[in-house]
Amino acid sequence: MADFPDIPRHIAVIMDGNGRWAKERGLPRREGHRAGAESVREVTDACIDLGVDYLTLYAFSSENWNRPQAEVRALMELLDRFLLEKATDLKKQNIRLKTIGQIERLPAKTRNLLERLIEQTKDHTALTLVLALSYGAREEIVAAARWLAADAAAGTIKPEQIDCTSFAQRLQTAGIPDPDLLVRTSGEMRVSNFLLWQISYSEIVIVRKYWPDFRRQDLLDAVAEYQRRHRRFGAL
Ligand code: FPP
Repeated sequence: MADFPDIPRHIAVIMDGNGRWAKERGLPRREGHRAGAESVREVTDACIDLGVDYLTLYAFSSENWNRPQAEVRALMELLDRFLLEKATDLKKQNIRLKTIGQIERLPAKTRNLLERLIEQTKDHTALTLVLALSYGAREEIVAAARWLAADAAAGTIKPEQIDCTSFAQRLQTAGIPDPDLLVRTSGEMRVSNFLLWQISYSEIVIVRKYWPDFRRQDLLDAVAEYQRRHRRFGAL
């Protein structure tokens, strides 16, 4: 649906405000997450309609493990349900599923579901949906540095050969273009340990709405805002 001339190839989203959305309605926090999962469905559909190639969603940060056990459990159950319900759509909509983050920390059931869907959708071409789960950008960067250091110690790479390209190849996002557009909801002006390397030149759009209220039209508005910006990559 090419109504727009300059569609971002990769959109990354910090989905924030589920808890406050629920609190304002006198509901438990998990209800905010449940409504947020609906936004995930709608935004994914909108990205397919627009012709976006990659959508990366910050669904669970490495810091989120510090939340009360009941909330962590509710988030994992929600993710399981989303994956089970979305399985048919992933096929129908030709979506490729990927993850970044420390997936080994997730419950076995969630991990198995993810691994199965990643395998089943690996050749799909309409949209790559990247779920950041147990993800932290600093941890990702440290792991890349450790990998390069081990290669240097083993003599398979020389320190002077380490550059931005070889570094990016050791990040979990290797092969994925950097986000053109980063959206954060709930009005907070923070990056919160998300894709620190990859967003060096991303356009950032902050939306005041809480994530459960962020739907198709809000995504279209964020893309329109992106298109109004003059992107210069540091040049004149
Ligand atoms: C931030 O809101 C959101 C999260 C920690 C989790 C995001 C998860 C979902 C949108 C639902 C499930 C995801 C998928 C992929 C189905 P918050 O709890 O930090 O809100 P607050 O800042 O208002 O407390």
